[in-house]
Amino acid sequence: MTTQRNGSLPLDGPIPHHVAIIMDGNGRWACDRDLPRHEGHREGMKAVRHAIEAAMEIGVEYLTLFAFSTENWNRPEEEILALMGLLKLYAESERDELKEKEIEVRILGDLAPMDPDTREAVEEIQEATRGGTAMRLNLMVSYSGREELLGAVRTLAHRVRRGELDPEQIDGTMLEGALHTRGLPDPDLLIRTSGEFRISNFMLWQLAYTEIHISPVLWPDFTRSEFFDAVRDYQRRERRFGRVTAG
Ligand code: FPP
Repeated sequence: MTTQRNGSLPLDGPIPHHVAIIMDGNGRWACDRDLPRHEGHREGMKAVRHAIEAAMEIGVEYLTLFAFSTENWNRPEEEILALMGLLKLYAESERDELKEKEIEVRILGDLAPMDPDTREAVEEIQEATRGGTAMRLNLMVSYSGREELLGAVRTLAHRVRRGELDPEQIDGTMLEGALHTRGLPDPDLLIRTSGEFRISNFMLWQLAYTEIHISPVLWPDFTRSEFFDAVRDYQRRERRFGRVTAG
């Protein structure tokens, strides 16, 4: 399949069904400009729009963005307040447009520590966009891959204790059914910005066979062009899922 876009090379090959992004480098972007860190996050919100537009344009079905990790609760209070404020602003200001574009939004993570106003805003955007069929956008908030796995193990252990489940019955599909991402395919492509080669506790189960693209740009500088570069890189990969090459 060839997809032509204005002003750049065509994408020629399979389009990833599911793209996940670790949006890194907001703080460094702000620091480089002698700005407070929250200005980097604010600018990063624009890059979120670019990524959504680019994904929609080429027909990505699932886009998953790592917006706030469980570990981020340990940042200075000022930065946490700024990030929660931005999430609320995003949920309120983008809700109608995302609904119109038929993008279904889900916020995945442990929302218990979130302040009530932000929680209400994210619940509203989920409700408003429910059933959208063009693309599913997952915002991972207060999320940690290890916590997610521990939660799934606890859920299954309770079922064993209640006598509903024999431990021998537990398989990958059952575990996946107890993750935040239940029902979603694993990401085909993971993009991480700011040149760091780390997974940072993100989707530890789901990334088992995902192709990884590291972009050198800081997240606020991420544009559609960087997104398409990542997809082109993906299209050059040979995915073997642990098997040998065909032929
Ligand atoms: C990592 O950069 C980024 C974050 C912790 C937050 C990501 C948030 C946004 C992109 C804006 C809000 C998004 C939505 C969807 C509302 P960092 O602060 O760790 O950067 P550094 O490594 O340069 O310090």
